Amino acid sequence: MPTAHELLAFYLEAGVDCALSETPVNRLSEEAAPEERAPSRPQQFRTANPAPIPPLAEPAPAPDAAITSAREIAPKAASLEELRDLLERFDGCALKSTATRLVFADGNPQAKIMFIGEAPGRDEDLEGRPFVGRSGKLLDLMMGAIGLDRTNAYIANIIPWRPPGNRDPSPQETQICLPFIRRQIELVNPDVVVCLGKPSSQAILNVTDGIMKTRGRWFDYDTGARKIRAMATFHPAYLLRQPIYKRLTWQDLRAIRKALNVGTAS
Ligand code: URA
Repeated sequence: MPTAHELLAFYLEAGVDCALSETPVNRLSEEAAPEERAPSRPQQFRTANPAPIPPLAEPAPAPDAAITSAREIAPKAASLEELRDLLERFDGCALKSTATRLVFADGNPQAKIMFIGEAPGRDEDLEGRPFVGRSGKLLDLMMGAIGLDRTNAYIANIIPWRPPGNRDPSPQETQICLPFIRRQIELVNPDVVVCLGKPSSQAILNVTDGIMKTRGRWFDYDTGARKIRAMATFHPAYLLRQPIYKRLTWQDLRAIRKALNVGTAS
């Protein structure tokens, strides 16, 4: 018989890390769904009676309203502190209610380079800083390879709250959070933006191609006030699974280093 601790560890590994209801539902119980035990219905299609999900204290507004509200308020933040404060008070993204905390940014806000990932994972959610888990360690090595670390680089994510079980953020969640990361880029005002992986590059660079096509090319990211050089490269989590692409990543990192050095010289 597994202990409660072993069961919890199993659930966590399986991505089950938030409660949907206050009371457990015995989905194996014979009484679970009498009306669904119709003899004509094949066993494998039976669904247990779902427990009523208690309403959240403050239900998140409909995605369209949340997107409109995010677009309205994010540009008003006059500083990174104000932007962080806005996000702490923003209830338009339902991910906030399942995440432990906001994961706003790490590194130096004066940096000339800003790395943008997708969304926090479990370690980031616990610590409140982006890229502190396994992929964060690899990001540190990637930055180190071109003379960067968290004292001279700034790191954030498109989505500042962890999606439950590390699922992919939905397109609506991305649209809701986009005005905030856009304002974050404007406020940091780096010389170079690096998008880590496909979701980040698609959201920031407004492209539909996958990372294989997008990586390694320079784009102009237009803040309205100026154009910032932007490049996409592989996400460190992807590189952990596909180390063969480290070779291409190294090419991208060298181009990034060169662009930063040119910026320094001029
Ligand atoms: N992956 C991301 O995209 N961001 C993090 O902060 C951690 C992992």
